[in-house]
Amino acid sequence: VTAEKAGFDHFMLKEIYEQPKAYRDTMMGRISEDGRKVVLKEIGMTLEQIQGIRKIQIVACGTAFHAGLVGKTVIESLARIPVETDVASEYRYRSPIITPDTLVIVVSQSGETADTLAALREAKRNGARVMAITNVVGSSVAREADDVIITQAGPEIAVASTKAYTSQLIAFYLLGLYLADKLETRDEKWIADVLTAMNQLPEQVESILDQAVVLKQVADSISKHSNLFFIGRGMDFAVAQEGSLKLKEISYIHSEAYAAGELKHGTLALIEDGIPVIALITQEELYEKTLSNIKEVKARGAHVLAVINAGHEGEVSKSVDEMFAIPRTLPLLAPALSVVPLQLIAYYASLALGHDVDKPRNLAKSVTVE
Ligand code: G6P
Repeated sequence: VTAEKAGFDHFMLKEIYEQPKAYRDTMMGRISEDGRKVVLKEIGMTLEQIQGIRKIQIVACGTAFHAGLVGKTVIESLARIPVETDVASEYRYRSPIITPDTLVIVVSQSGETADTLAALREAKRNGARVMAITNVVGSSVAREADDVIITQAGPEIAVASTKAYTSQLIAFYLLGLYLADKLETRDEKWIADVLTAMNQLPEQVESILDQAVVLKQVADSISKHSNLFFIGRGMDFAVAQEGSLKLKEISYIHSEAYAAGELKHGTLALIEDGIPVIALITQEELYEKTLSNIKEVKARGAHVLAVINAGHEGEVSKSVDEMFAIPRTLPLLAPALSVVPLQLIAYYASLALGHDVDKPRNLAKSVTVE
């Protein structure tokens, strides 16, 4: 078993460290040789069909759903197609409006999740085209979808998903750029610049992993608390939700992810002296707004760890207790970096509390019953 873990104490840690490779493998063969275009041979839609998409629905469960939340912003901003997101267990029961010009994207690491598969079938029954983003070739979801983008994360063993999630983000970036090129919503130079930035992500993740010891210290102090908050705006809020889920799954510490601007409408009442707040502040456009939300919780005694962009240390340090800087990238790509420190915090918190990191209580890797 130790050999399978390649020297790591747990599969989860091994899988966290495999992310640079998973990013490279998921991009491999999907970028043109000149680095200027995304090539997705696995998409069988004609240009006419792509131009005919009026709406996209992203449907998934758990961590895959959180990847879909990032995917929504990516597709809407790159391809200007309206995107809805649903957890699969809700989708079928809200009588969703599915028309033949709807593209339904199901996201599933295993490709076997019962709720996700049922949503796929519901979408097909209603005449929608279905695309799957999955990690498993030949899985039920892969077999039944019209178009399949395989994430190349490699087998994921730990129940808490890490490299599958980030590979799903890479798949969404590729898809967003592909659609933007076909629909001419972004010019070639712009797309090439994003691809250049994407190529830097694996090394940037490595530089985050090199600082794991800092995050272990953060996790050790968090593990003494029974409640905390993750806050952020825009894509930072999507990542906050994944960070909170990761921590809950394996450390059993209760946490809540909140859209930072919404705190004042209720949740702020729960902020008391010493409560840890993990604040993500990577989105340039929302920078000032998020900083003022951080000041709101800080003024009420919260202990704030901010995940920031490198270079912002000076400005942010006055308003927070601790900082963790991620390397500079485009705001759109920041989730592929900012989630990594949150994965490590969850891992080390679980470890500090002596829990079974790879096999948390009550949870299964793949839920094949409804
Ligand atoms: C289970 C796992 C989660 C996972 C979810 C969806 O609940 O414990 O980690 O995110 O299923 O799995 P899928 O294979 O469809 O991505």
